[in-house]
Amino acid sequence: MQLSCKWTAIFPLLIVAAGVTVACNQTQAANSGNILRASPMGIDPIPLQWGKAGVVAKVELGRNLFFDARLSVDGTVSCATCHDPLSAFSLSERFATGVRGQVGHRKPPTIINAGYSRAQFWDARVATLEEQAAGPLMNPAEMGMSPASVVSILTGIPGYRPLFEKAFGDPGVSLARVTEAIATFERTVVSGNSAYDRFLAGDRGALSPEQSRGIAVFREGRCNACHEGKAFSNGALANLGVGTDKPGADPGRFGITHEEQDWGRFKTPGLRDVALRAPYMHDGSLKTLEEVVEFYDRGGIANRNLDNRIRPLHLTAAKKADLVAFLRALNGEGWQDATAPERLPQ
Ligand code: HEC
Ligand code: HEC
Repeated sequence: MQLSCKWTAIFPLLIVAAGVTVACNQTQAANSGNILRASPMGIDPIPLQWGKAGVVAKVELGRNLFFDARLSVDGTVSCATCHDPLSAFSLSERFATGVRGQVGHRKPPTIINAGYSRAQFWDARVATLEEQAAGPLMNPAEMGMSPASVVSILTGIPGYRPLFEKAFGDPGVSLARVTEAIATFERTVVSGNSAYDRFLAGDRGALSPEQSRGIAVFREGRCNACHEGKAFSNGALANLGVGTDKPGADPGRFGITHEEQDWGRFKTPGLRDVALRAPYMHDGSLKTLEEVVEFYDRGGIANRNLDNRIRPLHLTAAKKADLVAFLRALNGEGWQDATAPERLPQ
């Protein structure tokens, strides 16, 4: 029962057979400050070079920064305000509230497995987590900082000095160091070893009959045309019509490229832990997984750019239930190690 989660990555079947997976989760939740190094079964290795100097210290620094609301202009908003561990690092509301009560217009995606994506944001407008992290920090509606205010606030907190020193060799603070540390932390926020992974690895009892029938419905619905690979995303963008029936529709990728074929296209999200982060879609317009399945069953929302892989499915009620059950089998572990620090640097 005292086993660390990393053992589930090394001996997944043994541990599943011994029935201690849940105990493993509980042990991890009680223990802040764990750093996950070996990714759980079913997902690629954590994209970090552990042998390089400062990597572990960067994860630890990044964890503190991620949870620290002092990094916002009025001290009220941290990354975790909108990417809440209790909602699988997403948010249980449609839109997030940034500094000075400003409400955004897109649903915060999860940061779980974001380290495996080749593009960030719903419109895939940046490539790396480092570039991404500067976005919300500087966004006047999110955290409202400037490079200079980031430096002055962190320099004014003596407790951060040793963390920067361990991570970078000297205590100097810069926006580039802050975003590098946050991105390094985010790369450890991963999810694998779901019931579905254990099923694929040979544990036939890992899925309920409903969940295992759902695998076939997932294929029948051509869900895997876009939600494919270990993180259940091909990394590409698609137009399902979400929100296009409303006035002032979010143009998605078009807002970046101004190319007509990109109008209404959004990045395909991964599906791991999806059951834990309702509501769904870039505008949070679908409240439950049942609503998502109904949406696909109707063939999305017709619009001038609807993806030709989105067509009415005519699933029976039983198949719809199986598909939802399958989506629930994708809840995983690993990211539970990325807890808030017990005490922020003072
Ligand atoms: C006020 C709410 C808010 C705050 C604060 C916030 N985010 Fe976000 N985050 C969002 C929203 C909304 C999006 C999607 C925006 C878009 O696609 O245009 C997002 C997108 C992301 C993504 C992209 C994920 C993906 O799959 O594309 C990452 C990574 C991320 N945020 C990390 C962070 C980090 C790191 C911080 C702190 C420095 C942070 N966020 C602060 C709301 C927030
Ligand atoms: C053509 C590519 C494509 C296909 C096929 C597809 N999806 Fe999606 N999926 C997406 C995109 C793109 C989004 C985000 C759309 C948006 O927000 O506008 C999405 C969003 C989702 C979400 C919400 C995730 C979240 O974090 O909000 C779920 C759940 C989902 N899809 C499940 C499925 C299922 C089940 C099927 C099969 C019935 C399916 N998808 C078929 C591309 C696809």
